[in-house]
Amino acid sequence: MDAKELITLAGEWIEPSLKKVFPEELSDDITVKASMYSLLAGGKRIRPCLMYLFGSLLGCDLNEVLPYATSLEMIHTYSLIHDDLPCMDDDDLRRGKPTCHKVYGEGIALLAGDNLLNRAYEILFKECMSGDLAKIRAASYIASKAGIEGMIGGQSIDLDSEDKTIDTDLLYELQDKKTGALLSAACMIPCFLKEASAEVASQVMEYAMHIGLLFQIKDDILDVEADPSLLGKSTGKDERDHKSTFVTLLGMEEAQSRMNGEYQGCLDNLAALESLGYDIKDLKIITEFLAERKY
Ligand code: IPE
Ligand code: IPE
Ligand code: MG
Ligand code: MG
Ligand code: MG
Repeated sequence: MDAKELITLAGEWIEPSLKKVFPEELSDDITVKASMYSLLAGGKRIRPCLMYLFGSLLGCDLNEVLPYATSLEMIHTYSLIHDDLPCMDDDDLRRGKPTCHKVYGEGIALLAGDNLLNRAYEILFKECMSGDLAKIRAASYIASKAGIEGMIGGQSIDLDSEDKTIDTDLLYELQDKKTGALLSAACMIPCFLKEASAEVASQVMEYAMHIGLLFQIKDDILDVEADPSLLGKSTGKDERDHKSTFVTLLGMEEAQSRMNGEYQGCLDNLAALESLGYDIKDLKIITEFLAERKY
């Protein structure tokens, strides 16, 4: 299978689950409409795809993984709705469509983000009702990676770093948290559910750290180089908003070189997993896709 086929496969797994996160009787509610507008607007579904591939790699029951992938994609979508608001990045285009607040107004877009986050936790709590500690640990990991020590923490540094020159350590912390955290949850949830050995979990964790950085450095590069119609969001925003990114702070060449370093790091961790007897073929294909993506 090539990357496109793998993404399609993961899409077929996650989309039906995303479609039914709210009951039919709530479908006329304006906040539910706005939530579903953004949730089903497309998107690469990279986090569900990574969770699917690590779940398959470790031999998880994919039906047990699915609610976690659903929750994570909901949290990711909420982060995008809020990220696009005028009080944050003020963006008009997301996933090839007008942003949530452009269609539904700022107040409802704010609620739509909150609604997706809250529902994500309802889904996670439901999974934990059995009292299975592995499931509770997995849910708790998502919560910590979504919060101030993860995505929210990264967004906080991101906003606080506008119009400033920050040092490289803070740049890494910013990127690692705002984007790496949710990607690390995508990779690690199957380890929790399958109660993977410390040796395996540490390789997956390191891979996750590299793929998170690779992903956000690429996002920074695409903000300069991509074709907006292909990317599905507007470009040139980081420069305009005086954002601190790998490209604005270190230049395009250095950003490319650091991204290649992260790519190599990913491959090293996959090789280590292969030497432990795991079939890493599909993960290698997706990793290459993420390094070379144009959207
Ligand atoms: C965009 O994420 C925001 C970042 C964290 C860089 P994606 O590039 O995964 O966005 P979608 O889900 O495909 O729209
Ligand atoms: C956002 O980073 C990361 C999130 C937590 C949503 P960006 O602001 O660079 O993402 P894009 O470029 O708008 O997708
Ligand atoms: Mg942002
Ligand atoms: Mg943004
Ligand atoms: Mg960006």
